[in-house]
Amino acid sequence: MVCQCIGILITFSICVFLSAVQARKWNDTGKGAIILEESWAIPDIIATTNNLVLPAGLTLAQLQADLLDIHNQRLAAMDASGIDFMVLSCITPCVQGISDPAAAAALATKINNEMAAAISNNTMRFGGFASLSMHDPAAAAQELNRTVVEFGFLGALLNDYQQSGPDNATLLYYDQPAYDVFWSMAQTLDVPVYLHPRIPIPQITALEYAHSPFLIAAPQEFAVTLSNHIMGITANGVFDRFPRLKFIVGHLGERIPSDLGRIDKKDPRHAHAEKRIRLLEV
Ligand SMILES: *[C@@H]1O[C@H](CO)[C@@H](O)[C@H](O)[C@H]1NC(C)=O
Ligand SMILES: *[C@@H]1O[C@H](CO)[C@@H](O)[C@H](O)[C@H]1NC(C)=O
Ligand SMILES: *[C@@H]1O[C@H](CO)[C@@H](O)[C@H](O)[C@H]1NC(C)=O
Ligand SMILES: *[C@@H]1O[C@H](CO)[C@@H](O)[C@H](O)[C@H]1NC(C)=O
Repeated sequence: MVCQCIGILITFSICVFLSAVQARKWNDTGKGAIILEESWAIPDIIATTNNLVLPAGLTLAQLQADLLDIHNQRLAAMDASGIDFMVLSCITPCVQGISDPAAAAALATKINNEMAAAISNNTMRFGGFASLSMHDPAAAAQELNRTVVEFGFLGALLNDYQQSGPDNATLLYYDQPAYDVFWSMAQTLDVPVYLHPRIPIPQITALEYAHSPFLIAAPQEFAVTLSNHIMGITANGVFDRFPRLKFIVGHLGERIPSDLGRIDKKDPRHAHAEKRIRLLEV
């Protein structure tokens, strides 16, 4: 069990989430871990990983082979590490990095179909989170439904804001009323939505991080950017309208939990924020 809990609501979310997993059965050895946020890719998008910071000892070629594979080295590594079940998701930024709405929707469908095919002969060890184009909230809702109903996907993973526009710099945040149709679907289906960081667009990097480029991505920028989005969702009342909605937020809650007291005090719309945010921390 890799999940650590902060607070009752977080524990509750974990229980609900795991009961959904359990309903489909996995290779439960009684001691192995269930892991989420496990990056996976299809050949169409593998080039987007060319500039990733490589983990020590890994070449780019090895990393890319590992991202594309699940049945060989990944399964062997899971067995060696005591991992019972892995929930796959598309590597960041995936569909959220595609500004053209039609191309983004087509890519999401392709990724979901290929993920479903890849895991179909070993659902005891692998599950999936859907990739979604967030240009069109109603279409995103329909695709979420399709992947949950047809493929048994366990929810969706969104890589922060959807970039859009001809300059690739119009950013869509899911805290606007237009996204209610999507949140409504996630609540109805009773599946969690994982909000995951993404590599920033160059304009953000230039404006905010030129003075200290080492803060870009995981050391600092991921948590700052994604927590703005998450707090926008809570401040704009999404959880008031969809109180049974479940979010998964990684990386110790993107630093929000340690600041709940101050958020509560300083922003009237966040009164009792700790009661509204359902963070599942992994
Ligand atoms: C389930 O786990 C056991 C113990 O690790 C292993 O021997 C077996 O091959 C696994 N089954 C599947 C379907 O992966
Ligand atoms: C599932 O299919 C893949 C690709 O054909 C294969 O490598 C793998 O061994 C299969 N896994 C099981 C559990 O049958
Ligand atoms: C999800 O899709 C199924 C199958 O197409 C449909 O029957 C069901 O009404 C959809 N669910 C929602 C909440 O729209
Ligand atoms: C926006 O992104 C697309 C796809 O990556 C690219 O072809 C295009 O040149 C970009 N536009 C700008 C203004 O950077």
